[in-house]
Amino acid sequence: MPSLEDIQTADAAHVMQTYGRIPVAFVRGEGTRLWDSEGREYLDFLSGLAVTSLGHAHPEIADALADQARQLVHVSNLYYNDLQPTLAARLDGLLGGGGRVFFGNSGAEANECALKLARRWGTLHGGPARFHVLSAFRSFHGRTLATLAATGQPEKQEPFQPLPEGFRHVPFGDVGALEAAMDERVCAVMLEAVQGEGGVNPAPAGYLEAVSGLCAERDALFICDEVQTGLGRTGRWFGFEHADIRPDVVTLAKALGNGVPIGACWARAEVADAFSPGDHASTFGGQPLAARAALAVLDVMERDDIPGRADHAGKRLADGLALAPGVVSVRGLGLLLGAQLSAPVAGPVASACLGGGLIVNAVAPDTVRFAPPLTVTEDEIDSALEIFGRATREAIS
Ligand SMILES: Cc1ncc(COP(=O)(O)O)c(C=O)c1O
Repeated sequence: MPSLEDIQTADAAHVMQTYGRIPVAFVRGEGTRLWDSEGREYLDFLSGLAVTSLGHAHPEIADALADQARQLVHVSNLYYNDLQPTLAARLDGLLGGGGRVFFGNSGAEANECALKLARRWGTLHGGPARFHVLSAFRSFHGRTLATLAATGQPEKQEPFQPLPEGFRHVPFGDVGALEAAMDERVCAVMLEAVQGEGGVNPAPAGYLEAVSGLCAERDALFICDEVQTGLGRTGRWFGFEHADIRPDVVTLAKALGNGVPIGACWARAEVADAFSPGDHASTFGGQPLAARAALAVLDVMERDDIPGRADHAGKRLADGLALAPGVVSVRGLGLLLGAQLSAPVAGPVASACLGGGLIVNAVAPDTVRFAPPLTVTEDEIDSALEIFGRATREAIS
């Protein structure tokens, strides 16, 4: 095994330097635990970034992958494969039925599909001028040009101007601002139920219902980006289920393959019909290997009531975080939580946690994000709280 220093040297020489990396190289995982190149053990309370919801190296996912790898990894989407419609039907069932799914390989691709679908739908329901998409400031929808344009973080957009046109942003939670922006050019509104990357900001009570009502009134699509919040993370199958709504389009990725790249864009069938053969495609999307992983993920999640476990464990973690020194509030739902500190020391706190064997991240200058596997045990939560409490006490005293 090369040393961390050797890995860093090779990375600097050969990998495009797009990440400000933390000096740790992980080599092995099991459940909530990770081990680095120097043999140190960590509690992973980030799960990638809300990806490995069933924990690392889950034996049933590993078996499904190995079995599928021996049978058939890939076929072109010019042909049928049986796993793709099986997975689509499973997702459709979880989303209440009556929809169809497109598969890609990431969250950005799932959202790119949703945005292209909204444009096609808008053109068919109002003409070519109806292509605007409204999204929220502090949202995160991906790094492709269109999903970056939808992302409400101007500092991330600036180096890549000009971005595709037709993307406008409104303050998250402000129904009046959305209503004012919703003119006849708008074909869709894209929102997260909890803004994950934007600082762990849950939608205020009643907001998603109001947005859904406005979309219905103005005949615009409501796209829920569930890439981070989907599949149990918030204590329910989907983050939007904390509100009394049913979106027209839902995007998923992260937890769907428990780390195997797969993204999905679900849409009501009448909306999905806006796409004709040839309108959208992905070489790898929905290939047998990734679909098999996702089916195994859903099997385990349904059998073990993973959303219920996330809800239960999330309460224990949130209660513990609220008692930690220097924590002024805890935001989020289920096991997607942000601990807001009384000072902008989230960076140093996250570093101290890492030093103590706990992986978390500073999602804002004053907020530390927690997104452990949904299978996390009570003992692991208690250990994490101990390490975090030590870190905040030192940083804030
Ligand atoms: C809500 C949301 N949408 C989209 C994305 C982009 O996903 P990916 O990095 O897989 O392209 C992310 C990633 O963090 C996300 O949190």
